[in-house]
Amino acid sequence: MRGPEPRPEITSLPLYVPGATRGTGEDPVIKLSSNESALGPSPEALRAYREYAEKLRLYPDTGCHELRHALAERHGLETTQIVCGNGSDQVVHALTLLYAGHGDEVVFSENGFLRFKLGAISCGATPVSAKEVKHTTSVDALLASVTDRTKVVLLANPNNPTGTYVPTGELERLWAGLPPTVLLVIDSAYAEFVESADYSSGEALVGRSENVVMTRTFSKAYGLAGVRVGWAYGSERVIETFNRARLPFPVSGAAQAAGVAALQDEAHLRAVIGHNTKARDWVAEQMRDLGMPPLPSATNFNTCRVSEPGSGLARTVMEFLTSRNILVRPLDAYGLDNYLRITVGLDSENEKLIDGFSAFVGRLS
Ligand SMILES: Cc1ncc(COP(=O)(O)O)c(C=O)c1O
Repeated sequence: MRGPEPRPEITSLPLYVPGATRGTGEDPVIKLSSNESALGPSPEALRAYREYAEKLRLYPDTGCHELRHALAERHGLETTQIVCGNGSDQVVHALTLLYAGHGDEVVFSENGFLRFKLGAISCGATPVSAKEVKHTTSVDALLASVTDRTKVVLLANPNNPTGTYVPTGELERLWAGLPPTVLLVIDSAYAEFVESADYSSGEALVGRSENVVMTRTFSKAYGLAGVRVGWAYGSERVIETFNRARLPFPVSGAAQAAGVAALQDEAHLRAVIGHNTKARDWVAEQMRDLGMPPLPSATNFNTCRVSEPGSGLARTVMEFLTSRNILVRPLDAYGLDNYLRITVGLDSENEKLIDGFSAFVGRLS
């Protein structure tokens, strides 16, 4: 007798492997494996977080009122159409669970964020992946994958791990081609980093439809990955459905306080974005010069083609960098075994990263 058996789809669910946190070398670790913020959070957010220590005895505000208010003000949205959660992963997972189950299909793009597939499977739904074109989501392929069993379409825009994005016109075309019964979730975790005029994070679509939700996070540009705050903006009906099923205290009080303070420090956010663009483009140029070109990135990472597929070289480079305590992300789980995903770090970290790649290339020649 083995005891209780979980649902069969849970037994076969692959484990999500997060970015490495430990190196094997002696230098301090340079962690460029999880798309965290190079500059970290606003000092104001840290102060609010510390001050919250006085209130740890109390349950946090179940409705995250102050945080939702601050978000609505910052983005010009309706407070009643916002929900907060324990990171945007949790929000996207909950949305999938609310709308898809056994016999339903959840559609996303070929290299769409891996959590989408895992979330669909754990809800008992069938994951359906749509081919990409040049490592970019293809709206045509997504629409062609929609059947009468499709309940949810998940789009990370820009996408992780490719870093590419779908422009506003294509986003509109995707929504227009979907049946109104299908929920379109636009995961805009990296929205703050995108500077292109033809990009939009999805707010406008939410504003004029019943079947679109935009999700956002404090983990990337706001540098608060450790406290776990994400949020969603959707129609009143979707948000009401979400609230009906959510756990009572999804976001800790300290995380709510840090989030509110982070939103107020616009200068810090500007500094983060400014550093990111400059440093990302510098790393991209160096990697191109080393013969390991990146995909066009609108995010805080570069995904570089390090070798031919199937050669195993990307893993060898990664291990070489790990021996210098420089951690980057292998993408085998996506079938991109010849690519490495490299988060933008501080200038000094990026220089050490490029030194590491150069040393590896030097050993080959
Ligand atoms: C596309 C995308 N969505 C969501 C997340 C998760 O963010 P959070 O920390 O808010 O759960 C990530 C994190 O890597 C991501 O890349």
